[in-house]
Amino acid sequence: MAGFKEVSAKRSSTRAYTAEKLTKEELDSILAAGLQAPSATNRQEIRFSVLDGSDPVIEELEQEKMRLRNAARGEHNAFYEAPTVIFLSAEDDFRWSKVDAGIAVQSMSLAAEDLGLGSLIVGSVYDAMRGEKREYFKEKMRIPADREFQIALAVGHKAAEKEPHTYDTDKQVVIV
Ligand SMILES: Cc1cc2nc3c(=O)[nH]c(=O)nc-3n(C[C@H](O)[C@H](O)[C@H](O)COP(=O)(O)O)c2cc1C
Repeated sequence: MAGFKEVSAKRSSTRAYTAEKLTKEELDSILAAGLQAPSATNRQEIRFSVLDGSDPVIEELEQEKMRLRNAARGEHNAFYEAPTVIFLSAEDDFRWSKVDAGIAVQSMSLAAEDLGLGSLIVGSVYDAMRGEKREYFKEKMRIPADREFQIALAVGHKAAEKEPHTYDTDKQVVIV
């Protein structure tokens, strides 16, 4: 098993997946990482809706995303046809919901990497999830009435490797 430094350094967004499904153990480990993530005042307000990538609502969401953009459907859907998509929702009026969702989704992304799986954090469906079809998507994804979509995570087996992004420590960090 790789240590944290290796997992963190190796993680990179996966935009190509095989059709292989996640095992129950893999999914449970990824969800555990999300549930174990810290939340402001330990509110644990994030809800996780797990969908199969072939669920018809995934394509409906894609169609709605493209309709709002007035664009034709592309070669890939927002989740790059990943076999599993996890939608994170939370109360909009809690100040830290977006931060908490971000922490949880990154914890799950690192857990996926630790298992040798690929993942992609997906925000591009935000407007579609919160537009005219908001109630419809919430019902299909069993998102509680008092929560709203925050972010999603696509997960699956990597069909291609990608180098981690580079960064500029001198520009981004100041040691005071
Ligand atoms: C909040 C958030 C939303 C994102 N939404 C998308 C998305 O909708 N589609 C996508 O392809 N990548 C999305 N990404 C992935 C970023 O593009 C990616 O993390 C960034 O380019 C750095 O690449 P890396 O993850 O490979 O290091 C998102 C990442 C974050 C943190």
